[in-house]
This record gives sequence, C-alpha cells and structure tokens, in this order.
Amino acid sequence: MTVSSSRRRALVIGGSRGIGAAIAQRLAVDGHDVAITHVSRPDGAQASLDAIRAHGGRALAFQADSSDADALRQAVAAAAQAFGGLDVLVVNAGLYRHTPIGSVDLPTLDQLLAVNIRGVVLAIQAALPHLSGGGRIITIGSNTAVRSGSPGSSLYAMSKAAVAALVRELALELAPSGITINNLQPGPTATDITAGLDEKLAARVPLGRIAQPAEIASLASWVAGPEAGYMTGSSLTIDGGFIL
Ligand SMILES: NC(=O)c1ccc[n+]([C@@H]2O[C@H](COP(=O)([O-])OP(=O)(O)OC[C@H]3O[C@@H](n4cnc5c(N)ncnc54)[C@H](O)[C@@H]3O)[C@@H](O)[C@H]2O)c1
Repeated sequence: MTVSSSRRRALVIGGSRGIGAAIAQRLAVDGHDVAITHVSRPDGAQASLDAIRAHGGRALAFQADSSDADALRQAVAAAAQAFGGLDVLVVNAGLYRHTPIGSVDLPTLDQLLAVNIRGVVLAIQAALPHLSGGGRIITIGSNTAVRSGSPGSSLYAMSKAAVAALVRELALELAPSGITINNLQPGPTATDITAGLDEKLAARVPLGRIAQPAEIASLASWVAGPEAGYMTGSSLTIDGGFIL
C-alpha cells in the first residue's frame, strides 16, 4: 500500500535510538514523513515512531540488521514502496568495537565491516532507484576518520574513513542525476556508544562537553534541506574542536 502525503519522504537506516532517532525526529519537525530501520529493541523503535508522529509525520519501522544484505535491501524497498519514493536517505547505523589489533577476531572484524561499510554501500545502492531527482543522501561517519581517537579505535576509524571516501567519489557518479551525497563526522555524542564516558571524553573537547544527538540532527536536517543544494561529496566534522 502506498501512503500519499505532501511531505518529503525520508528513510533513516538505524533510526531507533541515539543520533538516528534524533535525526528521524528532527526530519519530522522539518516536514518529512520518516521511515526507520532498526535491529532490535522494539520499544526503542516505538519511541522513535511516536516522536515522528508527534510532529505530524507519517512514521514506519522496518526491522533489518544492516549486516544482513537481503533484509537491508528489502527494508529499503519496502519503505520506498510505502512512501511512493524517497527524497532523503540517512545511513546512520554504525557499530563501535574496541579492537586492539593483536586481539581482534574474525567475527568482530567481519561484523564491523559489514555494518559500517558494506551496509552503507548496500543501503545507498538499494535506495538509489527510488530517490527523486534532487534527492539527498547523508551518511554518518565519525571524526575518527580525520582525528586520532584512542588506542583500540583503529578499525572503527578505518571504517569511517572508508565512508568518507565512498561519499566523496559517489558524489561524482550521482551529480548528473541531481542527487547530492554528504557525510557528517560527529565527535563524541551522548548515546549508548559513549555511555559512562561523558566526563573522560568531554575533557578532550575544547568546548568542554560532548554533543547532544539533537545537535547532530540539526546539521543533518540542514544538509537534507533546500539551502544545502550546492553541497555534495563533503564530509562535515562536528565535534566541538576535539583534540588528542
Ligand atoms: N555517539 C558517538 O559518540 C558517535 C560519534 C561519531 C559517530 N557516531 C556514529 O553515529 C552513528 C549512530 O551512533 P549512536 O551513537 O547513535 O549509537 P547507538 O548505539 O545509540 O545507535 C546506533 C544506531 O544504529 C542502529 N544499528 C546498530 N547496529 C545496527 C545493525 N547491525 N543494523 C541496523 N542498525 C543498527 C541502531 O538501531 C541505532 O539506531 C553510528 O554510525 C556511529 O558510528 C557516533
């Protein structure tokens, strides 16, 4: 069944909590219907759906682990079909794993790459046939792609640097179709990933605190909006001036 609406149509991959939930909610505030994918925690997905609806947006949720290629593709297609197309794709889903190089095992390495790199490629590939001309793709990278993080972050940083390179190069392929693609690189942000580390991380931020998810969502919504139409292939770091 196709849902008709005059609002723009967005899909947030990994929109049940943290930064993704904040982006889903902010896009709803700014005039989007929003579909999200999520892996688990149906309670989290429900809270995100309620927040989208509270701001007048139609809200849909699809359970799909980004490391499951078929499930991810099906979720993107189902969201696009339900909305009758897509205007905005946000690929937010990402995993942090502490991986000192001497002890990292194959399942951990494979899962990290499957979600943080392969899942980004597959989500974009699956969404492209459904994106309107003038459509927007936004990936959520990390400032670890461009600034040193902490020992044990090398594989995560590598995965986020790969996303930045993917975005930079894909911008060339997508430009003729009028679709822009940009990458946001947050620093430490108050979500499950940083739980219990706020004070330690804040000490490395010149602005003296870590980010709130809504601050990342605000930038995402601007990039998805009409004033950002000339920007593509960019990685925007938003990290309070994070330093070693
Ligand atoms: N929190 C930070 O400090 C921080 C900093 C820089 C970048 N990031 C990036 O921001 C993004 C969101 O992270 P967060 O901090 O909100 O984390 P989080 O753990 O709170 O949320 C992760 C999100 O990704 C989804 N997700 C996780 N694994 C998934 C999988 N296998 N398949 C599908 N969805 C999956 C979850 O449903 C959730 O919506 C990630 O890409 C992360 O790398 C976070």
